Amino acid sequence: MKQFTSVNDVEDIKELVEAALALKKSPYAHQELGKNKTLGLVFLNPSLRTRLSTQKAALNLGMNVMVMNMDKEGWALETRDGVVMNGTTVEHIREAAAVMGQYCDVLGLRSFPKLVNREEDYNEEFFNKFISFCGVPVVSLESATRHPLQSLADLVTIKETWKGSKKPKVVLAWAPHIKALPQAVPNSFSEWMCQAQEEGILDFTIVQPVGYELSTDFTSGANISHNIDEALADADYIYVKNWSSYKQYGKVLPFPEGWMITNERLKVTNDAKVMHCLPVRRDLELSSEVLDGPNSLVIQEAGNRLWAAQAVLKAVLETL
Ligand code: CP
Repeated sequence: MKQFTSVNDVEDIKELVEAALALKKSPYAHQELGKNKTLGLVFLNPSLRTRLSTQKAALNLGMNVMVMNMDKEGWALETRDGVVMNGTTVEHIREAAAVMGQYCDVLGLRSFPKLVNREEDYNEEFFNKFISFCGVPVVSLESATRHPLQSLADLVTIKETWKGSKKPKVVLAWAPHIKALPQAVPNSFSEWMCQAQEEGILDFTIVQPVGYELSTDFTSGANISHNIDEALADADYIYVKNWSSYKQYGKVLPFPEGWMITNERLKVTNDAKVMHCLPVRRDLELSSEVLDGPNSLVIQEAGNRLWAAQAVLKAVLETL
């Protein structure tokens, strides 16, 4: 794998899921692969799971790891070309990315959207410039529009927990929040689930209030609903996540009552397992009774971030 920025960089998602599950059984089986190789993790935004799981994944593969918190420790970056840098920016992304590429064999990058200008965010300008200037393979640690390491871990979690004889019904359910959050996690989850649906692994539905529909670039093949009662009926998995409006870009729109998943809501499901990428705001986005109850998969799901990252890094190392 030359880079990992979306499901489109993966040749075979079933194989990648199996690779992650094999690494979960034998974490240290490929320590020679990463020997004398360095992973640089570049964060422009906060992280708990992505930072720790990707570091641990690299260490399991025998790699050295360096972490750069660009937002707090790096020089203020300029991304525009053709501007006189007489303002607040100190270093151009052209030099900064190229220099990091001198020290690292693989780079991971996290860069959230600003949620102000949709075209700017969805062009992934920062991410694409970083990739083109750094000169080494890049693994997304979450970009403006996607979070593929999370989505791979989510698919791994569904694969390892599903014991039924039919295809599981997976529902991505919008949840309330007080802040405007990016669409990266739901976009990416949808993209991966649509691919999994196409390969006959599962059936996929997205349910959200009117106005919260995701970009159709990420939802092709999904069953789209605005009725949470109908969408949750017979669900085997509910993937809970808030996101701000794509249509009225970055806005928190008014929404009706009843969108937080509770034990009462689970009654119409097929005893659905509940997933969330975390961090989650308890009793706003998802009820404590569900998070603390037997249907929650959130900790197992976060644990699988390690094996997802390790499978991806292994695939990248094999191409160096
Ligand atoms: N789910 C996830 O990406 O968590 P962090 O933001 O803590 O890395």
